[in-house]
Amino acid sequence: MLRGVPVALFDTRTPLVPLRDEIAARVAEVLDGGRFILGPNVEAFERELAAHVGAREAIGVANGTDAITIALRAMGVGPGDEVVVPSFTFFATAEAVVPTGARPVFCDIDLDTFCVTPDTVRAALTPRTAAVIAVHLFGNVAPVAAIEALGVPVLEDAAQAAGSTSEEGRPGALGSAATFSFFPSKNLGAFGDGGAITTSDPGIAERARMLHFHGSHDKQTHELVGYNSRLDELQAAILRVQLPHLDGWAAGRRAAAAHYVRSGLGAHVALPSAVAGSAPAWHLYVVRHARADELGAALVQGGIGTRGYYRTPMHRQPALAEHGAGARLPATEEAARTNLAIPMSPVLSAAQAAEVAGVLAAAASA
Ligand SMILES: Cc1ncc(COP(=O)(O)O)c(C=O)c1O
Repeated sequence: MLRGVPVALFDTRTPLVPLRDEIAARVAEVLDGGRFILGPNVEAFERELAAHVGAREAIGVANGTDAITIALRAMGVGPGDEVVVPSFTFFATAEAVVPTGARPVFCDIDLDTFCVTPDTVRAALTPRTAAVIAVHLFGNVAPVAAIEALGVPVLEDAAQAAGSTSEEGRPGALGSAATFSFFPSKNLGAFGDGGAITTSDPGIAERARMLHFHGSHDKQTHELVGYNSRLDELQAAILRVQLPHLDGWAAGRRAAAAHYVRSGLGAHVALPSAVAGSAPAWHLYVVRHARADELGAALVQGGIGTRGYYRTPMHRQPALAEHGAGARLPATEEAARTNLAIPMSPVLSAAQAAEVAGVLAAAASA
C-alpha cells in the first residue's frame, strides 16, 4: 500500500509549541526560587485545578495510581472491604485497590460507551462493597449520580478525562472524590509523572493531604502510615501554564471526533458513543470491529498510529487472578477483542481524519 503522510496515535508536541517560552520561563523561576517540593506552584495549581473542575480541594500527588490508593484510604476503604472496578480499564485502576487491603471486584461495561453503568455496577455489589471506582474511560463521562443512587460511594478515576464535561458537572466534581493522572500523554500532561485527587468533602481532603505526606501534617507527628507521594514544583509550574488551555484542547479533541463522524467512518466500524448528557474530551478515540487487529495492521502499513487497548482485561491478568476468578463479563470480553484506538489529538485535522477513515474503510471492505 502507498503510504500517505504519517499520522501519530497521539500528538502531544504540536499543542505545546506555542507555550514553550512560557514554560521555559516558569521552569527558570522554579530553579531561581530553589523550592522543589511543596512550594507555591503546587499550592497554586491545587487551587486552580479545584476551581477548574468545580471541587473544593485538590491535592497534588506523584501519579494517578497513588492518587487512587490514597483517595480510597481517605474515603475509609480498608481490609475486608470490596471495591467494584471495571475490568476494561488500565491495570492501575484495579492495582491501586490492593494496597488498601480491600479486594477489587470486577464489573462489566456498556459496549457503546466503554463505561460502567448502574446495571453493571449493581451486579457486582455485595454487603461488603465500600466503594465503586467509576472510570471515565477514553474521556467519556461515566454516569456517577446514577451509580451513587445505588447507595455506594463513588471514586471517579478521571485519569483520561481532564477537560471532559457533563450535565452533572465536570469529572473531578461528581463523586465523593476523583483522581487524575498527568502522565505526559494525558489530556493535561506533565513532563514526567504527576497526579491529583479532587474532592469537596473536607474529611476526605484532610486525610488525603496527610496520607500523601507520610501520614503527617507537620513531619513531626505521624498519625497514619502513609506515602511519600507528592506532585513536585517543576511539574506543577508546567501544568499551571497548560491548565488555561485545557478547554481549548478539549474542543479540538471534540472537533477531531466530529471529523471522524463526518468522514463516514461509522459505516465501516462502530464509533464510540458519548454517555448521555456528556461532552467527552476524547483522550483516545476507540472504534470497534470484529477484525480489529487486521484493521490495525492496515493502519500501521499506511503510516498511521493505532493500538488495541486492554486486550487482556484486568480480571484475567495474572497478578489479579485471585480477584478475577469466575467473573463473567461479556461486554468487557468483546471490547477487549474488538477495540482499536485511532489517532486523536487537539490538532487532528479533517484531512488526517479522512486519511485514517479511508484506510479503515478499505481494510474493512477487504
Ligand atoms: C484509567 C487510568 N487510571 C489510572 C492511571 C494511572 O495513572 P499514572 O500512570 O499516572 O499512575 C491511568 C494512566 O496511566 C489510566 O489511564
